[in-house]
Amino acid sequence: MPKDRFNLQLFSHLAMESMIMSVERQAVLARMRSGDLTLSNAEVLEAFKIDPHFDPYSVPLEELDPAHPALFANDTLWAHFERLRAEDPVHYTAESMVGPYWSVTKYNDIMYVDTHHELFSSQQRAGGIALGGQPREDEDPYALPMFIAEDPPKHDAQRRVITPLFIPRNLAELEPLIRERAGQILDKLPINQEFNWVREVSVELTGQMLATLFDVPQEDRMKLINWSDTVSNLGNPEYFDTPEQGFQELFQCLAYFTEYYNQRKTEPAKFDLISMLAHDPSTNNMTPQELLGNVLLLIVGGNDTTRNSITGGVLALNKHPREYEKLLQNPGLIPKMVPEIIRWQSPVAHMARTALQDTELGGKQIKKGDRLAMWYISGNRDEEAIDHANEFIIDRDNPRQHTAFGYGVHRCVGNRLAEMQLRVMWEEIMQRFSRIEVVGEPVYLPTSFIHGIKDLQVIIRA
Ligand code: HEM
Repeated sequence: MPKDRFNLQLFSHLAMESMIMSVERQAVLARMRSGDLTLSNAEVLEAFKIDPHFDPYSVPLEELDPAHPALFANDTLWAHFERLRAEDPVHYTAESMVGPYWSVTKYNDIMYVDTHHELFSSQQRAGGIALGGQPREDEDPYALPMFIAEDPPKHDAQRRVITPLFIPRNLAELEPLIRERAGQILDKLPINQEFNWVREVSVELTGQMLATLFDVPQEDRMKLINWSDTVSNLGNPEYFDTPEQGFQELFQCLAYFTEYYNQRKTEPAKFDLISMLAHDPSTNNMTPQELLGNVLLLIVGGNDTTRNSITGGVLALNKHPREYEKLLQNPGLIPKMVPEIIRWQSPVAHMARTALQDTELGGKQIKKGDRLAMWYISGNRDEEAIDHANEFIIDRDNPRQHTAFGYGVHRCVGNRLAEMQLRVMWEEIMQRFSRIEVVGEPVYLPTSFIHGIKDLQVIIRA
């Protein structure tokens, strides 16, 4: 066959293939946009399959889609954000498995969006706080109304209910208990033997903490962990065939907490999250969906984030042996190291918003109704805002200058609790072990919402 005819055939084959792909994608997107939760997770991934190792500098800018879960599962996201920060800090992706969206990748722009809730809404009714979220009315059985996905004034009223639990005086009271639990967990670990740090340590500590905050039996902590994992993995085919299947688990969570909520309404008010929700006028009359939504917010908020910071710290220290040496020489650095670990890990990779009106951001025209992702994980690597942002430095000046907890009215309510848990954990680790050695490649979660590690094989040296 003449060469030019061969090329033509190859070209038309490729064009046809990309057209078929595009039709497939359009069908998948249409079903997603209609809020269809019976769509197979594997089918979605197949329709949007990419080579996660492709060089982001080798394609036209407009093809960059940093929300693709494969980039997170393979830890290949960094160069994508590096290019966007340098060449297109407020970037539009027209076609993706989460629909069209803007990426906000620089520190100052992220702070601008996060502190202008009158321009950029968190409401679930407009799409909510994670890319791919569909607008759902509160009455929809699959809606999960929660105060993180509300705007003021409702947001403020509900947030105020649980804030007292996180004030410094209460955290100081909790500290001895966390220290005791951390010690017990660490004392049970095998020495000179390989195991998964995530399961044995990070999950255990955060699970116990959650059961304490809700004042439910410690034996039930794995239920809480399971429901938290369900939320993070609704779209993950390794967990569920369809999101709808994941929701069946969440309805069990609702049944579990409805009992406690109703029971605590009849008892004198006490200082746990369920009792606080059950007694305050802003939250004592929640619909089942709203109760489930707010409980899940507290479970996921307090679990995935801290869990991944505990794991991320072990990994970061192993990848930066000079920093590990500094810590071994001077454990007094722990309070400074903790916010650096949180910045480095950025466990919440993004929070999404919906534009409430036409507006301008970084020279780009954002239209009313457009979806935006504030990429905290990218803002935390922005060299123009943070000195040596791409280096892990456990004794850096001003370590709390990072985007990982967000800003504005939604700034993380549990930030000091998270820091305290991490500080106590590291203090107890340093009391016991000379080193935690990472001995396997980390296995990352395939999601662009939580930057998480599900498996980290380690060996502890006494
Ligand atoms: C290292 C650990 C943590 C990180 C990185 C983290 C990160 C975040 C981020 C990024 C937000 C949204 C901020 C925004 O939209 O501006 C948030 C909100 C929230 N976090 Fe955390 N979080 C952590 C630990 C915790 C803990 C331990 C709890 C407590 C149980 C918690 C409870 C919440 C709640 C309830 C909200 C919603 C606040 C609101 O909408 O007003 N978080 N967190």
